[in-house]
Order: sequence, then structure tokens, then C-alpha cells
Amino acid sequence: MLKTHNCGELRSGDAGKEVTLAGWLNRRRDHGGLIFLDLRDRFGITQVTVNSEEQPAAHRNASEARGEFVVQVKGRVHQRPPGFENPDLATGMIEVLADEVTILTESRTPPFYLSGSKSDDVDEALRLKYRYLDLRRPRLAQNIILRHNIVRYIREFFYAHDFLEIETPILLKSTPEGARDFVVPSRVHAGKFYALPQSPQQMKQLLMVAGMERYFQIARCFRDEDLRADRQPEFTQLDLEMSFVDVDDIRALIEALMIDLSGKVSPKRIQQLPFPVISYDEAMEKYGIDRPDLRFGCQLFNITDAVAESGFSVFQNAATSGGQVKGVVYPGGADLSRRELDGFGDFVKQYGAKGAAWIGVTGAPGADGRYPADALRSQITKFLSQAEIDAIMQRSGAKQGDLILIVADKSSVVAQSLANLRLDIGKRANLIDPDVLAFCWVLDFPLLEYNEDEKRWEAVHHPFTSAKDEDWDRLESHPGEVKAKAYDIILNGWEIGGGSIRIHRSDNQARLFKRIGLSEEEIDARFGHIIEAFQYGAPPHGGIALGIERVVALYADAPSIRDVMAFPKTAMGTDLMLEAPSPVDERQLAELHIRVREEDLKKLTES
Ligand code: AMO
Repeated sequence: MLKTHNCGELRSGDAGKEVTLAGWLNRRRDHGGLIFLDLRDRFGITQVTVNSEEQPAAHRNASEARGEFVVQVKGRVHQRPPGFENPDLATGMIEVLADEVTILTESRTPPFYLSGSKSDDVDEALRLKYRYLDLRRPRLAQNIILRHNIVRYIREFFYAHDFLEIETPILLKSTPEGARDFVVPSRVHAGKFYALPQSPQQMKQLLMVAGMERYFQIARCFRDEDLRADRQPEFTQLDLEMSFVDVDDIRALIEALMIDLSGKVSPKRIQQLPFPVISYDEAMEKYGIDRPDLRFGCQLFNITDAVAESGFSVFQNAATSGGQVKGVVYPGGADLSRRELDGFGDFVKQYGAKGAAWIGVTGAPGADGRYPADALRSQITKFLSQAEIDAIMQRSGAKQGDLILIVADKSSVVAQSLANLRLDIGKRANLIDPDVLAFCWVLDFPLLEYNEDEKRWEAVHHPFTSAKDEDWDRLESHPGEVKAKAYDIILNGWEIGGGSIRIHRSDNQARLFKRIGLSEEEIDARFGHIIEAFQYGAPPHGGIALGIERVVALYADAPSIRDVMAFPKTAMGTDLMLEAPSPVDERQLAELHIRVREEDLKKLTES
């Protein structure tokens, strides 16, 4: 070994030991006769002191070393003199007095700061291009280490619960549902393609038919979809499937996993146990979204029925044309400036709303507990009756000093506007407790939703999800009312996982495929294997998948899942370090029986 200890491990008790350290030069401070080297490796930083009088050769080498040079130091551990300790450093009680300093490799000046305060403001594109340098920064390195530990604990948990870890293929068959597939051309079979799995969904169900009973996998998934902070084209799932279970069994297992994991990797407190359960309808009504952030209150309130005859036409129109009128309270916001109040209108416009009406509760209620119009600061109260004001005050629960914000529009616009407004209020008014993990389950999703563009019903989760037993009868007659045996697990407003109890009878599976508009031929070509497999004794089964990156990002307090991936892609799906995707040469294309279109070739040569 080129080192006897790592750079994070020496303590006062090691004083007097002869040690060899090796790592990167984090920082060098040159005081003439004395040079201080901060030596860094994955485990920490140790201060090395080089004295020109005692060790002239070591001092010469130390004076030549620059940031990010790889350096080996032989020396003696020394208790730092009183007053020179560094409490910010785990090794801050000691230093290593160098006898020898060897430069193992030199480094060019890095394109950005890897330590110090400036290292946090570096453009992400530059960080991604030099990801191997970016990963040297302790914040990112810690995320990668955390991810390793989380995956390790997950594996240990499932081994202890009798699960088999089984790998499923990456080269699969294209059966698009949900996102687009990434496809891979076959060389041997001209004109044919594999697809990369969007998830191992069908394989894990087939493993249940195979009798594996309890399967899990840390599985790579690939989806060609629009990217966001919490989405990447390739990502990793904890994927699992169990036979002879119902919704509650899967929930109990995952709840136990998340409690175990949280205790091991996070200092934060789980807000509520058992995890709260919310129906999809209730989540939409109270939070406007199916992944509510329960770290704070501010539930939405609904006044649609109370304003159907309002003198304020914006409310009245929305209420009588199938839309909704709902609002949210900004606690203590009654005195916000006019500019800030107008800002809410601009904020909700991003989500398609025309504006946000505001009512500041500036005065006190009368003796009867009702708020007269002059206790309210607003541009709209003059159009509202006292009964309407009473309904708003009662249902919002607003008190003196609060601000009420109301949006009237199509239901989907109201939901999106207020869900985001609520989060914005949570942040601005400091309502979010940063030290809690607010888990919840969302259940009773609709099985199907109508796709207006394609004029057909499609599966909300995926087409293998079972309807609730009592709802199968209505699949054909009232498809929009059928509820699914599906469940999502939410943490602090992020959907970290989703799953369902599956259809396990081939007749029901065929019925569902038909319901979502697939013809007999399409069913046979795309899903014939699964319908056939179900004819050989499929056990009742169900499962779930958790997004590993999302789980790690939440535990790491990282704003984006890119921060917990060693080599992520940009929002455009490119790898800036490898410059992928990239053209391939003619010969490769010819072997794959593929020709790039003239117009695309032209674009390639122009760019
Ligand atoms: P679903 O599509 O809900 O379910 O995915 C499960 C979880 O995977 C994560 N996830 C992603 N993470 C990063 N980037 C992405 N592009 C991305 N897409 C999804 C999320 C999500 O909750 N086969 C089903 C599971 C099942 O029914 O068992 C499935 O894949 O955290």
C-alpha cells in the first residue's frame, strides 16, 4: 500500500506514530520556512507541516506541489499545540510533521474551484464536463457514499426478508406505455429492434408466474421523456414483486424498509407513524396534487358551491361552467406589499390561471364572529355578498393578519396553480420544518384516464394494474369511475415510489387491454407472452418500485437527482463529458441496416 492511514482517520491518540498518507493537495499555505499542506482523500483532510530546516528535500518538493497534485507524505503524527487545533476538521487535533514529500502526479489547474466557498457557484455544465473533478468535492462525494450505503441497506433488508435478487434483461422488446422507449437496432435481425426497459414490470410479473414469490432488484430503467430536476433518461429503481399479497402487505413492507433506512441514514425525524394514508380524491381536493408535501398545513379550501351566484363574474363563471373556485391561506400575509400581492397573479399564470384574487384579513371580526367587508383588504370583496364572505372566511379558516388567495378556473388549472402556490407559501412563510421526513401513501387512484388527444382511455399507472374488486363490473360502462389497486409513496412532496396489485387472470388482462383501445392483433403482438403466461397458473401478485435517485436526493437534501448520480445527463439528455449521444461511423450503421436521413445528415455536419 502507498499509504498506512487515510486522511480522515488520525486522532490525538495516534500522536507519535510514523505514518504514510497519500491524496490530493487540497490547499497549500507557504510561510517561508514552514509549508502547510492540506492533504485530501475520500475520507477527509489532514494537515501536513513541512519544515525547511529539518527536512530541506521534503520542503523543496512541497513548495513545488500545487492544487490537485497527487502527493505522498511520510512523517510523524504530532499533537497540535494548544490554540492551533481546528475543530471543523475531524483530524483537527493533530498534524503530520513530514519527513518526506513525494509528488506522485502533477495536475493541470482545474477549470473550477474544488474547495472553498467559490466551489459551490460553478456552472453545472462545466461541472458535468469535468465530472471526475466535480466528484472530488466533498459535498458530491458524500452523496455518492450515501447512495452506496442506502443501496447496501436496501439489499440487506430484502435479503433478511427472504427476497431473491434476480437480474432481468436490458435488451427487451418494445411495448411502449407511458414514456417513449429507447430502441437498439439488431445487427443479426435486419430491421428489428430491442428496447431498453422502462422498468422490469413484465419480467417481474413473469417471475411470479415462475414461482419466485419474492423478487427484488436494483434495476436500471430507461425512459425517453422530458427531463426535470427529478427525472433522468436512465435511472435506478428498487423494484420488487411478491405473490399472494394484497395492498396492505406491500405497504407494510415498504413502510418497514423506509423506517429502517431513515433511522440508518438520516438525522431527521419521521413526522408521523404509521405513514398517513390519503385517497387520490382527497389529495387533489386538499392539496391540488397527488403527491402532497405534508411537512406543513395550508390545505386548500373550496368555495365553488358558495359562489355559483356571485356578483363577481370570474367566480360565478368558473363555478357554473364545470370549473372550480378554490383558495389557500398565506398565514401572516395580510400586510404584504401591493407588488408582492400582484406577484401571486403572475405566479399562477405560469400554470394557465388568469390571476389570483387576494383578500387580506386586516381587521378583527365583529361580535358575532363574522368579518365585515371593512375588516378585509381586497379588490373583490365589493362584488361579494356577506354570505359569500362568510363562506370564504369559514372554509379558509383565515384569521386576522392572514392573506387569502383564490383561483377560479378549470379544475386542472386551479389544482396546478394552488398546489404550486401552496408550496411557494410554505417556503416564503418558512412553514416547512427542514428536520422532518413527511411520508404518506396515496391510494385509490383512478384506473383509467381519458386521453383527449388520442380519444381513448389509458392506464393511469400501467395496464397491468388491477381494478378494485368491486369496480370490475363498471370497466366498460363507467371507465372513469373505476378505482385501481394502486399506491404511491410520497416523501416531502416527491413521489418516491409507486406500485399496484396486478391483474393475474388472462381474461381480465385481455379485457383491460381492449378497454384501452388495443385490437386483438395489437394485444397479441405486444402482450401475447403475458396473456399466455397467465394461462398457466399465475398467482395473485403485486409490487412496487422506488426511485433510488429520488430517495437519495431527499436524504441528502440535494435539489436535483443529478447531484446523487455519478455521471448524470443534462436536461437535454446529453453527457457533456463523453459528448454522447454522438454519430457512429458508416460501417457500424450499415451493419445495423440503418441509414441516417439526408436532412439529418446535413444537420449533423452543420452543427
Ligand atoms: P413508476 O413509473 O411510477 O412505476 O416508477 C417508479 C418510481 O421510479 C422513479 N422514476 C424516476 N426516477 C428518475 N427519473 C425518471 N425518469 C423516473 N421515472 C420514474 C420514481 C417513481 O415513483 N413498473 C412500475 C412500478 C410497479 O408498478 O411496480 C413503475 O415503474 O421515484
